[in-house]
Amino acid sequence: MEEKITAASIMRDLNTSFIAKRIIYHSQMPSTMELARKEALAGVPDGTVVIADEQTAGKGRMGRFWSSPKGCIALSIVLYPKPAYLPFLIMVASLAVMHTIKCVTGLCAQIKWPNDILINGKKVCGVLVESGVRGNESNYTVIGIGINVNLEADCLDEVSLTATSLSDELGSRVSRLETVRKLLCEIESLYLSAQDGEAVYDEWRQNLETLGRQVQVRSGNNLYKGVAEDVEKDGAARFYGACH
Ligand code: BTN
Repeated sequence: MEEKITAASIMRDLNTSFIAKRIIYHSQMPSTMELARKEALAGVPDGTVVIADEQTAGKGRMGRFWSSPKGCIALSIVLYPKPAYLPFLIMVASLAVMHTIKCVTGLCAQIKWPNDILINGKKVCGVLVESGVRGNESNYTVIGIGINVNLEADCLDEVSLTATSLSDELGSRVSRLETVRKLLCEIESLYLSAQDGEAVYDEWRQNLETLGRQVQVRSGNNLYKGVAEDVEKDGAARFYGACH
């Protein structure tokens, strides 16, 4: 049976200064992104976490559905970053996931530009970063993270061939509670230590499996294919041979 996670068990002696001082937990909800966005517009404290055991309408990039049955981690974090720091948030989130996977399971993950975390070439986690403005006030950002923890990736219908989970890769179950707690600590530590963005960019770039590989990028209705030559400091990829 899946271990029970509660807001209190996540918060207990958690070594953070502002992340997860408030946690909104539901066993099931449509999407943590939607609730986190509403909470951000209502002005919840910086670092508020929205977490669900299961989502019924999980959101992926470009309006895609994100499957998050029981056994996954689905969480969103509300932040109010300086605008100059926005490009680094995807890097902070991806590196935090990578560090967490290494620490909790010993498995080595890599980052597939722009926002996928892979193990052995298969996707184990997706990251979504959405920003907006609260009236005339500050910008808010919601970082959404979905990790396949204890599930057979074969069950994830349409993506089963390209997806994996921590338990599939490890061959045994993984503590979701330990994973969530470590992830929140890692996010805070990277976010605070990297307010100039430079260190985060360097480590993120070094862990991209994408450089030198053929990639496809969709922009509106156009699909571009090219080899990812390098990434800029704002996270944008530089291609050669891009065509559509
Ligand atoms: C992607 O790879 O397309 C990004 C997937 C992001 C999924 C997470 S799960 C928690 C949060 N809530 C959502 O509805 N989506 C994000």
